[in-house]
Amino acid sequence: MSELNSIALKIVSSGKGILAADESTGTMTKRLESVQVTSTAENRLKFRNALFASESMKSCIGGVILYDETIKQSVGSLTIPELISSSGAIPGIKVDTGAKALSSSKEEKITEGLDGLRERLKEYYKLGARFTKWRGVYIISNDYPSKVAIFTNAHALARYASLAQECGMVPIVEPEVLMEGNHNSKTCLDITTEVIKKCFDELILQKIDLSGIILKPNMILPGVNSNENINSEKIAELTLKCLIDSVPNEVPGIAFLSGGQSEIESTENLNMINLKNTSDYKMTYSYGRALQQSALKYWSKNQDDIVGTQKIFNHRANMCSLAAKGKWNKELEKK
Ligand code: 13P
Repeated sequence: MSELNSIALKIVSSGKGILAADESTGTMTKRLESVQVTSTAENRLKFRNALFASESMKSCIGGVILYDETIKQSVGSLTIPELISSSGAIPGIKVDTGAKALSSSKEEKITEGLDGLRERLKEYYKLGARFTKWRGVYIISNDYPSKVAIFTNAHALARYASLAQECGMVPIVEPEVLMEGNHNSKTCLDITTEVIKKCFDELILQKIDLSGIILKPNMILPGVNSNENINSEKIAELTLKCLIDSVPNEVPGIAFLSGGQSEIESTENLNMINLKNTSDYKMTYSYGRALQQSALKYWSKNQDDIVGTQKIFNHRANMCSLAAKGKWNKELEKK
């Protein structure tokens, strides 16, 4: 087993998943301001540290994705990567520099960050990171995604993945087909399948060790403005069809983004995916909003109650962990 494969498996095995705490300062500012908290470096650390020091880190969280600011912060004598490692989780880092307008297709985006990436990766490795994340985004409409957006984002994801592996870190490959729009689940299935297939074409062309990556896809859902009625069984069926059709067998783990689903929806859907999964891929979570939302809301009103904040986060992480094993049900949410 390669070193990269063992890191990837450690992150996604035994009902563990990923805490995506890699919001850029701009995004974190929006999240904090939405709950009337001023976005200072100190406040951003205070909230995140409450999560990183919680009990469920040991049992439910295999990896934490950090942002550049956070990976360089410390609490007492411990750096944040040391704090995360002390609970048995692996520190990771977002390395893309954001999605920018694609010059040839103005409404779409291309993710940037390849310039100087090798040097930044080496620095992050020294700071303790052992995995990385890069997110490409795709919109669905009558005209989009364009072939250009599908190809250029796949190419960039593969160039990033190659550099991450060269530097000894597992790349999370995240092609996110956004939920915005009035498209139905069949369109989401067709487009997500095409997007993921193109990513693997490029990953294979660029000789990525597929046993040392984690795929972070969206689930297959109707657009947020669609009037299609869909239950979690159908979502799980379509999501599994998409992944079985597009992901090579060597890939050890698939960790879904929550993408705007509620905490309960994302847990219920992940649980159903695991109940129906007959493949060897580990199917787990790499949630940002769906792990943090309730904890952030509580903390915003009770900033000194770290234990109370952690209780809420622990519950959410435990629910997600049960869903990653197909052992969640609605009754458990009430406890
Ligand atoms: P959400 O789960 O909030 O979609 O965030 C996951 C993520 O890392 C997006 O890049």
